[in-house]
Formats: sequence, C-alpha cells, structure tokens
Amino acid sequence: MNGRSIDIAPSILSADFSRLGQEIEAVTRGGATVLHVDVMDGHFVPNLTVGLPVVKSLAGATDLPIDAHLMISEPGRYAQEFVAAGARMVSVHVEADAHLHRTLASIKAAGAQAGVVLNPATPIESLSEALQFADYVLVMSVNPGFGGQKFIATSVDKVRRLRRMIDERQLDTRIEIDGGIDSNNIAAVVAAGAEIIVAGSAIFGAADPELAVRELREATVQWV
Ligand code: DX5
Ligand code: ZN
Repeated sequence: MNGRSIDIAPSILSADFSRLGQEIEAVTRGGATVLHVDVMDGHFVPNLTVGLPVVKSLAGATDLPIDAHLMISEPGRYAQEFVAAGARMVSVHVEADAHLHRTLASIKAAGAQAGVVLNPATPIESLSEALQFADYVLVMSVNPGFGGQKFIATSVDKVRRLRRMIDERQLDTRIEIDGGIDSNNIAAVVAAGAEIIVAGSAIFGAADPELAVRELREATVQWV
C-alpha cells in the first residue's frame, strides 16, 4: 500500500525436502522475492528443523535473499554464523534474547538485515527501545513451532498498531508477518502495514506452488 513494496516469502518448512531445489525454482517463477527458513532448536520451540548447513546450501543454490527466522534460545550465539552461511536477513525472538541490542548490532555488522520477532502474546511495547536497532519486525500470527496452524485474527490490529508506532517515530522499519497467511487474509495484513509476507502451507501445500505464490501476490493488490 502507498507504494510500499511487498515481498512474498515462502517458508520451506512446508516444502518437500526431498525435492527442495525444484520447490524453490517453482516459487521463484511464481514471483517469490524472499526465501524464509525456519530454524528451531527443540528448546525455545517444541520442534526441530534445519540449521547452518542447510542455509549454506540454499544460499549457493538460489538468488533469493534468505531470511533466517531463528526460533532458538540464546540466538546471539549463532546469529552471525547464519549471516556467514549466506542469510541476508536474520531475525531473533525478543522472548529468547536478554542481549537484543548486541545481537542486532552483530547481525548488521556481519552485513545482513536484523529483525526482531514477537510471539502472539508479546506486546509491541516490548520493542519500545529495541525498535530503533532493527531493520524489520516479524509479527508472529501463530505460536511458533509448526506450519499449518490457524491465523490468530487479532494479529491484524497488532500490525496496525506497530505500523503506527514505526510511523510516529519516523523509522523505516519494515513489518513481516508469519503464520496462517493465505489468500483470504493476506490483503488485510498488507492493508494493516505488513510488507514481508511469509506463507508455508498455503504455498507448498497447494497443488501448484508457483500458482499459489502468484495468487497471493495478486490478492495484495489494493484497489482504491
Ligand atoms: C512457524 C513458522 C512459520 C511457518 C508458517 O513457527 O515460523 O514460518 O512455516 O507456516 P504456515 O504459513 O503454514 O502457517
Ligand atoms: Zn517463520
């Protein structure tokens, strides 16, 4: 909206890992502009996924910028390593890091964009200080850990309030949203001010992931 560019970021969590390369080619043809990689440690969230070697392989195999969403405890210990592995965006949860300023600064120093993530029950006010140090804020619209969960509807208003907070401070922080996004709710989150839209099952669970990306993007077009 208002000239903001919208990134569609497929989450590979719902992809077929045995043919990941082809899945990524399909979503790239469909117009994906970011590749979202969910890193889980079985501690901060109750699930395990992929880590540094996978990010490294993907970075060598795609031109899409890799967005590493770290759902891990003490993310500051690993954030720079994800940049070294090729991630161009790295985000860490507010709830997982007692040293957010240092972690965000280390991501930027390593040459990537630094993001902070809010769980559904974490208020935007928890970013009062950290907002100025982040390139983007990721609003979780499900509880992190699994793909295919139901969108939490109050996330739309949360994005709207966060957008207002960013605009009032005249920052150029972008807003990302992640969890339960599909062609029915994507227009609402974009209208509220989200610009980087993550979708897993709505893309890789569809019969034709390439078409699914195209349809998501078409649903964001604002008619005024
Ligand atoms: C959830 C992950 C999401 C997930 C989204 O913890 O952070 O990125 O893959 O999947 P969907 O779009 O299916 O909710
Ligand atoms: Zn994610």
